Amino acid sequence: MSDSFRTDRRPDGVVRMTLNRPDVHNAFDDGLIAELIEGLVRIGKDEGVRAVVLTGAGKSFSAGADLNWMRRMAGYSDEENLADARGLARLMQTLNELPKPTVARVNGAALGGGTGLVACCDIAIASDKATFGTTEARLGIIPAVIGPYVVAAIGPRQARRLMLTGERISAIEAAHIGLVHEVVPAEGLDAAIDAVLENLLKCGPHAISAAKGLVRDLTGRPITAEIVDDTAQRIASLRATAEAREGIAAFLEKRRPAWLA
Ligand code: COA
Repeated sequence: MSDSFRTDRRPDGVVRMTLNRPDVHNAFDDGLIAELIEGLVRIGKDEGVRAVVLTGAGKSFSAGADLNWMRRMAGYSDEENLADARGLARLMQTLNELPKPTVARVNGAALGGGTGLVACCDIAIASDKATFGTTEARLGIIPAVIGPYVVAAIGPRQARRLMLTGERISAIEAAHIGLVHEVVPAEGLDAAIDAVLENLLKCGPHAISAAKGLVRDLTGRPITAEIVDDTAQRIASLRATAEAREGIAAFLEKRRPAWLA
């Protein structure tokens, strides 16, 4: 494995994934994409992992797709191009659907696919130095594979503006449109991330995963009788689990649940 991303694991099960190509502002090429997918799939299956923090080494979070790789791909056949693009689409989907809580620690520029990665995370905390944008149209391409996640995060109205102008926005503006949850001074970024992690670690690991699935399954769906019944079935089956029994008992007995002990 190359060193284009690093994984650090804390004893409490928090894994930090750091994109590590600072010389190109953590732009990702086919090699890094394949490694990230592999790393995420592994983390997704690891019962001991409680949360994932995604960040970038150096000045930027990620400058998106590596434009040298994009240029190289233009000379390949249609089939090769499609197979390659599917890799990037799979990275976004894998991150979006990871059965663990994901936190984007946006330390600097998050452009193109970098904005896509932020949109795929459950929670995004940005340094006030961070910038965002779907700059693809300025390069004659479109933010296609990140599109579903960016639109889900900020809605079609804001997405139209960002995607059609390719403009770069500040962290404050990103917070206004719902792309990030919080903006903090650069020196306070780790404290803000720790505060989020503390809350995540208070929750039952399976409950978090189920809550994430709930939001995903409810998004964009009308509230039909079928949906109402589906929600009843979810809570009915969850409250019988060992985790729920433990969480409820711990509250009533005024003690910490086992996952916090
Ligand atoms: N792919 C490949 N290389 C990239 C890159 C990318 N997406 N983004 C930056 N780089 C490279 C630059 O080409 C430059 O290489 P060089 O040192 O060989 O000249 C190096 O990273 C430093 O970039 P530079 O622009 O000089 O740094 P900066 O601090 O002034 O600006 C950014 C940093 C990230 C704001 C700026 O590089 C940028 O806007 N990048 C393009 C982002 C983008 O539009 N991504 C969407 C891709 S679909």
